[in-house]
Amino acid sequence: MGKGDSGGPVPQHVAIIMDGNGRWAQQHKLPRLSGHEAGRKSVKRVVQAAIAHGVRYLTLYAFSVENWQRPREEVQGLMGLLRLVLREELAEMGREGVRLRAIGRLQDLPEAVREELAAAIEKTKSNTKLDLILALSYGSRVEITEAAKAIAREVKDGRLDPERIDENSISDHLYTRGIPDPDLLIRTSGEMRVSNFMLWQISYAEIHVTSVLWPDFGKEQFASALADYAKRERRFGGV
Ligand code: FPP
Repeated sequence: MGKGDSGGPVPQHVAIIMDGNGRWAQQHKLPRLSGHEAGRKSVKRVVQAAIAHGVRYLTLYAFSVENWQRPREEVQGLMGLLRLVLREELAEMGREGVRLRAIGRLQDLPEAVREELAAAIEKTKSNTKLDLILALSYGSRVEITEAAKAIAREVKDGRLDPERIDENSISDHLYTRGIPDPDLLIRTSGEMRVSNFMLWQISYAEIHVTSVLWPDFGKEQFASALADYAKRERRFGGV
């Protein structure tokens, strides 16, 4: 773990629930999609800030399994924005050392998005500065259910002894296999919920909730979330 500007620890893994794009658009009397468009710029700012602070993993909750229920135009708009991020921003991010990864039910995504995603993941796979993990069609309960199924299949096939199942066995069957758990979870726009996001992985994460809406979230807000984290005393259930 590195030291931050304040001399305190820098979280190795930051996860963000990017909320408030709709409310931002409403405040500015703009369509909801303009809120998501503004949110895309925050993604870019926060990736740069994470690199500058020496954060190693950044997970962004970009689209939940529940988000498919939104109006068709909004879903299509979000998929379009995702393609723009993959095509335009990532080319630049890739040059800055960003490795793209994705977690979620990626098979649910439209084919064009899946192809673009696979290409961006392949192109950036040797980068080591920051792992940018996009949660897409992501739901934590679905993730844990799929892990339970995979483990059950291994037991049924005689490849796994049920008595040997431990916490690592579960972690190894999640989408985040091999990625350290988030140290800090940030949620924007003031809601006090975890919304089916990384329920297993955030067991010991510090939580920082800010009332700032995602499109207004930038370098300063990211730095203050990290400063807040640096002041916390993490005990992991000990004393
Ligand atoms: C939550 O705001 C945000 C989302 C559901 C989508 C997040 C998308 C982006 C930040 C833009 C594109 C970036 C990528 C990586 C695809 P909300 O609509 O729930 O806001 P509200 O609660 O105020 O309505």
